[in-house]
Amino acid sequence: MEKLLDLVSEEMKQAFEAAGYDGGLGKVTPSNRPDLCEYQCNGAMAGAKQYKKAPMAIAQDVVNALGESKVFAEAGAVNPGFLNLKLNPAFVRNYLERMAQAEKFGLEMPEHPKKIVIDYGGPNVAKPLHVGHLRSAIIGESVKRIARYAGHEVTGDIHLGDWGLQMGLIITELRERQPDLLYFEDNYEGEYPAEAPFTISELEEIYPTASAKSKEDAAYKEKAMDATFKLQSGVRGYRALWKHIMDVSVADLKKNYKNLNVEFDLWKGESDVHDLIPAMVEEMKKGGYAYLSEGALVVDVKEETDTKEVPPCMILKSDGASLYNTTDLATIMDRMDKINPDEIIYVVDKRQELYFEQVFRCARKTKLVRPETELKFLGFGTMNGKDGKPFKTREGGVMRLESLLEEINGEMYRKIMSQENRTMPEGEAGETAKIVALSAVKYGDLSNQASKDYIFDIDRFTSSEGDTGPYILYTIARMKSILGKYAETGGKTDAAALQPASGASEKDLMLQLAGFNAMMEGAYAETAPHKVCSYIYDLANAFNRFYHETKILTEEDRTKKEGWIALLALTRDVLETCIGVLGFSAPDRM
Ligand code: ARG
Repeated sequence: MEKLLDLVSEEMKQAFEAAGYDGGLGKVTPSNRPDLCEYQCNGAMAGAKQYKKAPMAIAQDVVNALGESKVFAEAGAVNPGFLNLKLNPAFVRNYLERMAQAEKFGLEMPEHPKKIVIDYGGPNVAKPLHVGHLRSAIIGESVKRIARYAGHEVTGDIHLGDWGLQMGLIITELRERQPDLLYFEDNYEGEYPAEAPFTISELEEIYPTASAKSKEDAAYKEKAMDATFKLQSGVRGYRALWKHIMDVSVADLKKNYKNLNVEFDLWKGESDVHDLIPAMVEEMKKGGYAYLSEGALVVDVKEETDTKEVPPCMILKSDGASLYNTTDLATIMDRMDKINPDEIIYVVDKRQELYFEQVFRCARKTKLVRPETELKFLGFGTMNGKDGKPFKTREGGVMRLESLLEEINGEMYRKIMSQENRTMPEGEAGETAKIVALSAVKYGDLSNQASKDYIFDIDRFTSSEGDTGPYILYTIARMKSILGKYAETGGKTDAAALQPASGASEKDLMLQLAGFNAMMEGAYAETAPHKVCSYIYDLANAFNRFYHETKILTEEDRTKKEGWIALLALTRDVLETCIGVLGFSAPDRM
């Protein structure tokens, strides 16, 4: 279905042509002066030179040519030559009815859907999730849902960090503590136990301990590096231990992501491409791309136009060990092989930007991807505390994801329980608090442009007023409550009952709704969930203004009432669709 603005521009184009001017001048944009008009067209001014005519005269010609337009209720030529426009309420009403009845509110589907892989989440196995991983999960999930809604074929891959030094550190620490474990017996050839020799909470303690030791004790670090190497080269006992670490840790990760309403299609990791590395390296050598430099195997990726130094991409260290790069490159190769995507989007901390620039260049140069495959880096900024420094616990440690969510859930629960005239029983309040808390965290994050740093402010994020998730949910709950009461009286909801707006706030709400398609297209094209947030904030505000001026349920004129109900239902549906792509949902009441 065409976007509203395109229909409006088309009408204007025809008027320009009918008046004898170039139709291309008839471009309509939202008004810069919403107090004066809804839309505007500056074509008369743009055409003045070409036609050697005063802009006002052209504008007046166009107004005359418009005549009794079905699209515009008002079109005025104003100095120095603007066309100020207001839409015909009946035209808007008809547009909304078509929207309500169309699939996805009439959002146009791509002729050739793209295959897209989104690499997000990126937690490191056996290391606790921290708030940086929170951002990747929240943004990536939303980017995935938006692209899917826009009609593309999207695969979300968690890309676990499961192959690096942290694994060697854990194995080393386990060996220090339990040297007699079967896994460390060199000549053991039998089966290993099915049970892991540790629990998730032990694992979470082991990693930081080992990591701290390795920073102080060079010999310990050496052992950890050796253990990593042994693991990667396939020593049986090490692989078996690794498998235990994976099982215990992944089960815990799954629980955490479920609480965040984040779902991955693929749970692949760095380890999955380990076996592909030798062949990849061979190809890179054969192609003449990779060469030895001080013992290490590298590929040059600098370009003439670079203004800053872009170091070579290191493929293998001098001891033959692979690196973070190597697994990322092999993963690209694997994705091309299995999925053959048109685009891969990486949702990663923006501090890794240069790194990804190297990887992308290397992948292109060594022809791991098709020339037209897009590799996109969506770098996000830091989540800061109120002091403007990276978010920490009260004690100054790294804030763990679980603790952060607990804190927000608690705060939300307190707010719900302390509501005056609360009718919600405690059990339901607990559940509702979780749903609302998730909206607070996700909206608080997504409403900022991803690349910017932002301040995580529990108080503000959980407030039911202002530009927040809970405010949006309150607005939806309000609509649901009205629609519920209406349904109880046996009333029917039908988009055909929509009426042309009779007042300003109603018209404004209708125009907001009509902008859905253009907004969603933009949010997809620019991988910009914040566009969805600012849209629903405006939409919720437009609805609340309308709601405060209108007694819906007590209206006696049935036509009016049914029209409003249809408007309410459409607003609710659009809002719920939008929060759906942002990755949260609304409770029925709050
Ligand atoms: N595991 C990494 C980290 O915690 C993030 C992974 C990002 N994705 C990637 N394909 N490298 O920093």
